[in-house]
Amino acid sequence: MSDQLLDPGENEINAAPDVVNESVGTTPQVPSLETSPVVELDPKKKKSKKWLWIAIASAVIIALAIVGYFLATAPAKIASKSSVRIGLSLDTYQESRWEKDRQYIKERAEASGAKVTTMIADGDDQLQIEQVENLISQRVDVLVIVPHDAKTIAPVIEEAHKAGIKVLSYDRLILDSDVDIYVSFDNEQVGKNSAQYVVDALATKTGAKIAYVGGAPTDNNATLIKKGVMSVLTPLIASGKVKLVYDVPTADWKPDLAYTSLKAYLDKGNVVDGVIAANDGTAFGAIRALQESGINGIPVTGQDAELTAIQRLIAGTQLMTNYKSIKSLASQAVDIAIDMAHGKAPTQNAKINNGFKDVPSYLLTPVPVTKANIDATVIKDGYYTTAEVYGP
Ligand code: BGC
Repeated sequence: MSDQLLDPGENEINAAPDVVNESVGTTPQVPSLETSPVVELDPKKKKSKKWLWIAIASAVIIALAIVGYFLATAPAKIASKSSVRIGLSLDTYQESRWEKDRQYIKERAEASGAKVTTMIADGDDQLQIEQVENLISQRVDVLVIVPHDAKTIAPVIEEAHKAGIKVLSYDRLILDSDVDIYVSFDNEQVGKNSAQYVVDALATKTGAKIAYVGGAPTDNNATLIKKGVMSVLTPLIASGKVKLVYDVPTADWKPDLAYTSLKAYLDKGNVVDGVIAANDGTAFGAIRALQESGINGIPVTGQDAELTAIQRLIAGTQLMTNYKSIKSLASQAVDIAIDMAHGKAPTQNAKINNGFKDVPSYLLTPVPVTKANIDATVIKDGYYTTAEVYGP
């Protein structure tokens, strides 16, 4: 996967007129000493008049330099709506949703006259830091970041702020930092939905064995999803209704790791009655392990409404997925980013603590999708066409 700008046409930073430089780049026009009218005949008076002109010229130059400095260090405040430049730093393209995020962000931004420069870090923390620093040095007006590691990226937020650039934490929360706004889904609700569908499907059993296939420990969403899952499971574990027999995180959300880890557990002769997976990729890995161990037809849940997951709902190998409208997320984020570039306070409907402060947040609601409501959700919303889901 490329680690550089994806679409050269998308990166208009260098070609676009730079508002900041235009404002400060003009040479200050001071009155010319040679051409200024000199009417004094007295040489002494003439000399003092010359010094007066020099003093005025110096004062004008210093004043212009001060104004220029402030304009150069506060690009966000002077961006005009048509000139807003968004720097988008994505962690990965591993899940198909991230390409949709990029596409919808670009479309919404361009519809508002803004430009987007995108960089993909391919799951590499150091690369992501360098890419964000690169975007800062290109003097974008606002940064939209999906962090690979919620904590490692934090120091860059301060660098952005020093350059007068606001930072929007997109989908995943950047921890321990003074990030300006977090725009995401209610990730606890994702976990609650995923757990509820599995326990409901196992309602007739007592002591049902549940496996939790977690997300990446470096991603705060994985923490929030687990919190939601446990809010459903904890009372049921306490009453003996269910048992959490397997609880393993998945580094970098890698489906292969989800598979090998659950497979190793099942290979020891263990059995499970249901699987709550943190996303559709890890659900896919888990389903493969179950099938290879001869366990079929048990409830498995995930999130992202990936096309392959929707097809598994139809095939009956996955019970449910959480649909998150990426178009709504992207639109909300772009509108907020543009507002912030104009110095406006970001729209918010929640506050989420990130270890440094209660971050102003805007959270959208995930929608559970089963075989029964595919048409009324992902197809109705235009996320997929009927042909994509059911075939031509
Ligand atoms: C996102 C999920 C995604 C996962 C892996 C999470 O932060 O919320 O939608 O599947 O990252 O990329």
